[in-house]
Amino acid sequence: MKILILNGPNLNLLGKREPEVYGTTTFEDYFSELQFRFKNSQLDYFQSNIEGELIGKLQEVGFSYDGIVINAAAYTHTSIGIADAIKAISTPVVEVHISNTYSREEFRHRSYISPVAKGVILGFGLQSYDLAIQSFVNSYKS
Ligand code: DQA
Repeated sequence: MKILILNGPNLNLLGKREPEVYGTTTFEDYFSELQFRFKNSQLDYFQSNIEGELIGKLQEVGFSYDGIVINAAAYTHTSIGIADAIKAISTPVVEVHISNTYSREEFRHRSYISPVAKGVILGFGLQSYDLAIQSFVNSYKS
């Protein structure tokens, strides 16, 4: 099965960005682990700091892939454009966050993505991505 991981702004800095919140592992290193763990699936990865590029990627893969795991980062709390793109495509999207956004500042409690996502996984560190991929792989089997 084909799954895209889509990361939004500042997630290219994982490993050195606020390590007390986001940990010390780079996403590239974690992505290699995921590819090893989910050998039977095709995992692709795209990151952008630009809202329009994230929307472009959703449109590009959103009618052919089996699943998209999105961490829209700060755009989670602001982007109607990303929410509309998720609504427009047929591939199911699972929203993930590394931190528990509900235990943080109030502005992080609102997500424009959650109402249009298949499900939401947050607060498990980088493992949130693993759990989201598992949700696709398990539902594909059954
Ligand atoms: C984040 C939470 C967001 O509030 C924040 O803007 C991020 C990362 C997370 O994965 O915990 O950049 O999406």
